[in-house]
Amino acid sequence: MKALVLAGGTGTRLRPITHSSAKQLVPIANRPVLFHVLQDVADADIKEVGVVVGGTADQIRAAVEDDDSVNLDITYIPQEEPLGLAHAVLLARDFLGDDDFVMYLGDNYLRGGITDLVAEFRRDRPTAQLLLARADDPGDFGVAELDASGRVVGLEEKPAAPKGDHVVVGVYLFTPAVHEAVRAISPSWRGELEITHAVQWLIDRGADVRSTTHSGYWKDTGNVAALLDANRVALESVEPLVAGDVDPATELVGRVRIAEGAVVRGSRIVGPVAVGAGTVITGCRVGPYTAIAERCHIEDSTIEFSIVLPGSSITGVSRIEASLIGRHVEVTPADPAQAPAPAAHRLVLGDHCKVQISS
Ligand code: G1P
Repeated sequence: MKALVLAGGTGTRLRPITHSSAKQLVPIANRPVLFHVLQDVADADIKEVGVVVGGTADQIRAAVEDDDSVNLDITYIPQEEPLGLAHAVLLARDFLGDDDFVMYLGDNYLRGGITDLVAEFRRDRPTAQLLLARADDPGDFGVAELDASGRVVGLEEKPAAPKGDHVVVGVYLFTPAVHEAVRAISPSWRGELEITHAVQWLIDRGADVRSTTHSGYWKDTGNVAALLDANRVALESVEPLVAGDVDPATELVGRVRIAEGAVVRGSRIVGPVAVGAGTVITGCRVGPYTAIAERCHIEDSTIEFSIVLPGSSITGVSRIEASLIGRHVEVTPADPAQAPAPAAHRLVLGDHCKVQISS
């Protein structure tokens, strides 16, 4: 059995972060979401993995090659344009050969992994098996229509009027029968070859398409709210550890992970919180539900329920919350000499930034 991990796409809903970085490399609990995916694949005892990459191929390769936590045999499969999930399967035909495979979207975060699901598929070997979850907003996803026995009888991609609340999680199990299906379908209204259409094609031909409903936590981390929520949940199971240098004037409360090489002075950190290597925190209140990546500098500030990416600095800002702060960002208060009006804000923002200011 092989795995096909999808790490292409443009990540429009995560702009501006994704102008310069792959959405699958945005960290949750200080670990790129893609690494959580690769870990799940490794835990399911799958070694041969095809990673489909697009415009951010170099970054994905560099990040994966830099990380020695997961030991997998990886083949990179370029996808020049994001033409859909079924298109990725088409491109991966040579890599996949006639093996069964699990396709796992590199921006999906799943608690509990895929080990049981893969074991069930290996045992029963239906033509295809979908992982479903109940969602409050089914129209944002692929929606499965089920019969009384739980068999999938229909699938629709982001329907305006969803037939139920069972949505398609980004983990799919296939036998080689899927290859004929992905060749047979045509692009959808959004110009993509949809995997939901390929599975529908199989259903229409009487194939045995089964489903398992995931009862644990799952998020497609494609937007900021989802990412912050996945970060919250991932932090709840981070192993507490104080490997960095924390002074006696600092108070650590609850589940806090301070990486080796981080420095914390005169601060109160309320877990769950993760602080990356090389980060310096001085005179701050941090947390709960906050992940500060490597090489950041946070001083005289308060930050909670947020993600800060590597190399950023925040100085003298009294309250930051529900924020996603990119790489090498500087956040400072306005200089009173240059901005005399108390309510003045000075902003240098790139394209597609989102700023919410209380004034
Ligand atoms: C894709 C699939 C959709 C599925 C979702 C899960 O959506 O097309 O059926 O429910 O992933 O993350 P996309 O991320 O392409 O909008």
